[in-house]
Amino acid sequence: MDSLTPATPAKTDALARRYGAEAVPAAGPWNETIAVMLDHRSVRGYKPDPVPAGALESMIAAAQSAATSSNMQWWSAVAVTDPTKKKVLAEIAGGQKHIEQCPLFIAWVADMSRNQRISNATKTEFETMPWLETFMVASIDAALAAQNAVVAAQSIGLRTVYIGAMTRSRSPNSWVCRRRPSSCSASASATPRKRAKAK
Ligand SMILES: Cc1cc2nc3c(=O)[nH]c(=O)nc-3n(C[C@H](O)[C@H](O)[C@H](O)COP(=O)(O)O)c2cc1C
Repeated sequence: MDSLTPATPAKTDALARRYGAEAVPAAGPWNETIAVMLDHRSVRGYKPDPVPAGALESMIAAAQSAATSSNMQWWSAVAVTDPTKKKVLAEIAGGQKHIEQCPLFIAWVADMSRNQRISNATKTEFETMPWLETFMVASIDAALAAQNAVVAAQSIGLRTVYIGAMTRSRSPNSWVCRRRPSSCSASASATPRKRAKAK
C-alpha cells in the first residue's frame, strides 16, 4: 500500500474504531504505517512465548532512528527477560502483574550519565549538563525512541504497554532509579508475543 492508495474499507474501519462510526474524520493518504499507528491499544495480557529472534534488535534500530535533540542521544534502553528481575520491576511499579508476565520488558532511560562519562573521559565540560532543560530533552529523546520501538513492535505483530509507574515507587527495591544519579527511568514497554485473541 502507498500514500496514494484510495480510501479502502480497512482505512474506514480503522478510523471508525478510533473515532466511532458516527465521527469518522476525512483522513487523506493512507498506508500500512498509519494503519499500524491507529491500531495501537495498550495490551496487558501476554502469551508466555519469547519474542521472535531479532525482534528486540529491530525495535532498537527503529528507536535509534528517531530524532534526537542536537543529535545527543540522551537515552538508553535496558532489556529485561529474567523472571526474578521482572518480578522486582513489577513490585516497583506497584504490583503490575503484566510486567512479570511479559516476555520482554524494556526500560527506557533518560540517560544523562553516559554523556557525563564521555565528558569526564574527554575532559570536556558539558555546560548544559545540570540544566533542567537537559533532563527534559533527555526525557523527550527517550520517549521518542520508545515510541518508535512501540510502532515497530506493533508492525511485526507484537503488543505493548507503557509503564510510567517505575518513577513513582517508594519501594525499597527502587534501585532502578537510584543506581545512576544522572539517570532516571522515563518509561517502559512490555512486549507480548502476539495480541491475545479477543474473547
Ligand atoms: C507515559 C505513560 C505511562 C503509562 N503508565 C502505565 C502504567 O504504569 N500501567 C499501565 O497499565 N498503563 C500505563 N500506560 C498506558 C495508558 O494507560 C494507556 O496508553 C492509555 O490508557 C490509553 O490507552 P491505549 O494505549 O490503549 O490507547 C501509560 C502510558 C503512558 C504514555
